[in-house]
Amino acid sequence: MKRIVIALDGFSGTGKSSTAKQVAEKLSYQYIDSGAMYRAVTHLFIEKKVDLTDTKSIEACLDDCEITFDREGVVLNGHGVEGKIRTMEVNKKVSAVSAISMVRRVLVEQQQKIGEGKGVVMDGRDIGTVVFPQADLKVFMTADADIRARRRMLELQSKGIEEDIEVIKHNLLQRDQADSTREDSPLKMAEDAVEIDTSNLTMEDQVKRIVDLAKERIHEG
Ligand code: DC
Repeated sequence: MKRIVIALDGFSGTGKSSTAKQVAEKLSYQYIDSGAMYRAVTHLFIEKKVDLTDTKSIEACLDDCEITFDREGVVLNGHGVEGKIRTMEVNKKVSAVSAISMVRRVLVEQQQKIGEGKGVVMDGRDIGTVVFPQADLKVFMTADADIRARRRMLELQSKGIEEDIEVIKHNLLQRDQADSTREDSPLKMAEDAVEIDTSNLTMEDQVKRIVDLAKERIHEG
């Protein structure tokens, strides 16, 4: 059976990652969380106290940065960092880090390599526009900001992190704004993407809609 590339883009907190993961499971495809790659680099920059205006330090840090995935999630230079990349500290810095063209160049190249074999579901902000402009299926996810903030709060709570919902909403909106207005690969819907508003959909509904679309594309010949 034909194996396709599925690009899932959209605003922060629309449930892209959880949806993409389940779609990949249902199709037995590989799931790649590209946001986790930007988060891992952000975590590394925080640890190494990299000054985001210092091109040489950024370059040196990226030269020593290998990102892979295992069952638990993202792996940075051989160490699983999934538990360290979803903090508010990373949330606050990740948009600035992902606006740096040098960072994007390195990560996009790695993402394209992963997608070469097809049979991949990748979620992010520029997957349908920049990473895989030829993706067989592109989905753009949106949702009401209050609903997104509530979902993010519950996700943080499930990890034992308590955060005020207004602080979370503010961060989501700030990231939407920064991600949509940056010069390099801004977040925008690809012309040939299918838009799905997840405000009133259950996770099961949204996964099913995307799997159905994928099956149509797979059988399109
Ligand atoms: O999907 P996420 O919230 O984990 O992504 C974290 C940040 O990474 C997001 O605010 C913008 C950036 N990002 C990006 O610029 N391009 C991508 N393909 C994925 C994420």
